[in-house]
This record gives sequence, C-alpha cells and structure tokens, in this order.
Amino acid sequence: MRLLVCGGAGFIGSTFVRLRLQEQGDEVMVLDKLTYAGREENFHEFSEDPGFRFMRGAIEDREAVAAAIEASAPDAIVNFAAETHVDRSIAEPDAFVTTHALGTYVLLEAARENDLRYVQVSTDEVYGSIDVGTFTEESPLRPSSPYSATKTGADLLVESYFHTYGLPASICRGSNNYGPYQYPEKLIPLMILNALHGDALPVYGDGMQVRNWIHATDFARAIGHVLEHGAPGEVYNAGGPDEEANMVVVRRIVELTGAQESQIEHVTDRPGHDRRYSLSSEKVRALGWAPRKRFEEGLAETVAWYRENAWWWEPIRSGEYRKYYERQYGRSLQP
Ligand code: NAD
Ligand code: TYD
Repeated sequence: MRLLVCGGAGFIGSTFVRLRLQEQGDEVMVLDKLTYAGREENFHEFSEDPGFRFMRGAIEDREAVAAAIEASAPDAIVNFAAETHVDRSIAEPDAFVTTHALGTYVLLEAARENDLRYVQVSTDEVYGSIDVGTFTEESPLRPSSPYSATKTGADLLVESYFHTYGLPASICRGSNNYGPYQYPEKLIPLMILNALHGDALPVYGDGMQVRNWIHATDFARAIGHVLEHGAPGEVYNAGGPDEEANMVVVRRIVELTGAQESQIEHVTDRPGHDRRYSLSSEKVRALGWAPRKRFEEGLAETVAWYRENAWWWEPIRSGEYRKYYERQYGRSLQP
C-alpha cells in the first residue's frame, strides 16, 4: 500500500512505519510537525529505506496536508498525530484542542476530497475509568482529561464523516503503550531513566492505579489489521494482555535497573486521575490479530533498550524535558 502516516515521527507512529516498511513492503510518507515529542532520530532504523519519505508539517495546516497527499498519492491516511501526555493537557490544553479537533477535521476533509481510506488512532481513555470489568466498543464515552476529551471529539468527528459522507474511516483505540522510543514523560521511560540516574521515582497518589499495557509493536500491528481488514464506520479496541498497578510496574523497574526501593516517592496525585483502564479486544482479534508480547518480557527488553541507547535519550534529558520536569515535579533531574 501507499500510506500517508501523520504523526509518524512519534513513538507509536514510527514503530508502525518501521513495521509497514519492513514487514509489508509499503511505501510510506510521514507528515509530522516535529513537536517536542516528534524526532527524526525515531527514523534511524528505516531512514535509508527507499519506500520511506518525510515532510515536516502540521495536520491542521491545509496546505501542508495537500502537499503531502500530492507528493505521495496515498491509498490511505493513518493518523497518529496528537498531543499525548495527560499531565501536559492539564497544564496547557491549547495544543490538544488545535491538533485533535482542527487537525483531525483537516485530515478528514482531505481524505474526503481525495477518496482515501482513513484510520484514526485513538485511546482507551475516551471511555474514562472502570473499577471492575472491561470496556468494549459499545461502552459509553466518558473522558476525564483535556487529552482524552479532545481525543473523543476527534473520534466523533471521524464517525460523523462516515455517517454523513460515507468516508471509509475506522478507529483503533489502544491501551497504554510501552517500548523503545517512548518520550520519557510517560510512566515507564520516566521511571527507567530516573532509576538509572539515581533520581526520585515519583508515584502519583497511592500508586494503585491500574493500566492495561500493550507493546507498541502489538498496537502498531493491530492498527495495520484495522487498516487492511477493518470495516468502515467501525471502532476496534486493541488492549494488551496484562494489567498492572503502577506500584508493581515501578518496583519491577527498580529490580531490573538495580536501583533502590528508597528512590520511590509518593507525590501529589494527578487531578481527575483515572483509576483503572481495561479493554476488551475481541473485535480486532476476530480480524486475526493477537498481541505477541507479554508485559514481563517486554518490560525487561524495554529497560535493556534504554540502557543501550543513551544516544537517543541524552539530548532529550538535557533539553526541553529537563525544564518540563522542573515545572511538573517541582524539582530538578540529576545531570
Ligand atoms: P507521541 O507523543 O510520541 O507522538 C506524537 C507525534 O505526533 C509526534 O511525532 C508529534 O510531533 C506529532 N504531532 C503532534 N501534533 C501534531 C500536529 N499538529 N501535526 C502533525 N504532527 C503532530 O505519541 P504516541 O505515544 O506515539 O501516540 C500516537 C497516537 O497513539 C496518538 O494519537 C495517541 O493518542 C495514541 N495512543 C497512544 C497511547 C500511548 O500509550 N502512548 C495509547 C493509545 C493511543
Ligand atoms: P502515563 O504514562 O502518563 O499514561 P496515562 O496517563 O495515559 O495512563 O501514566 C501512566 C500511569 O502512571 C498513570 O496512572 C499515572 C501514573 N504516573 C505516575 O504515577 N507518575 C508519573 O510520574 C507519571 C508520568 C505517571
């Protein structure tokens, strides 16, 4: 296939691009704004692939989107482009509204004008929190943060383009992803890098919040299944095989890195913090997908990757991230 992958310079987008180039032989054009989270370093495993091209641009910029479509003549748009960190959405929601609402709208219009298949990458956070049981695609949408509320808005726009204009659009909602190339603001890479540097490990509240962990390669392959076999107008959940409380994850990272338990610090809880996420993936499994990586194995590999790839994270830890960390956590990282 020929794909336009928006947000392909981020964590999951670049994982998806690598797998499509290397496993499917697709041609891929990435359109990405390169925010703090989007990095050309994320292309390094496939930057020389003849099927790969990159244009820098924002999805809310109609001209940039038109130029990317003109240059790549895609069969489909897969949209990963987003602001993705809940804590940043609480501190500064502005870019979340622009990228998720306006950006998704511009892409949908472009897909409509050019008769393109469209896949929106979304999140289990649109369903809100669930104490017991599991969310299905029929569960009500009850987002709690500006991140999840604006992602929900984008999903509803996508559905409206299917119902109103017959756009062949599908949505794939993933649970919490982890793996190589994840920006260290998120729980797992933050804790790994802090553990390795002797920094405090800041656990929000009691740390008994539960997340459903999926390896980014598993989520990327689920999105590929939805693209190829999913029905237009349908939503597909893709959850990982394991659920863990944050404290269990952090203690496991302490063991894997050889850090000290005493580095763990309970800090003020996140406002509106969702207690538990849990996704049923029966519908995407019926398309032939199944997750391949169990959390225990994937977490150990992820810790090893961060240990071995300081070239990737050192520029982040010495740049914008350091200032973000000071604002968010009220303390400095070790040099
Ligand atoms: P990320 O923050 O690593 O990457 C986001 C990418 O989007 C970056 O490359 C960034 O430069 C780009 N981007 C942001 N705004 C843009 C704009 N206006 N125009 C063009 N590009 C823009 O995020 P990620 O973790 O890879 O998430 C990718 C997608 O998957 C998002 O839609 C997210 O909501 C969804 N998702 C993420 C998770 C998770 O656990 N990380 C779970 C489920 C769903
Ligand atoms: P995060 O990686 O931000 O993903 P999400 O909010 O999308 O689930 O957080 C995962 C969990 O870890 C969530 O319950 C919040 C918690 N958390 C901490 O306890 N400390 C931290 O420093 C961070 C970033 C997250």
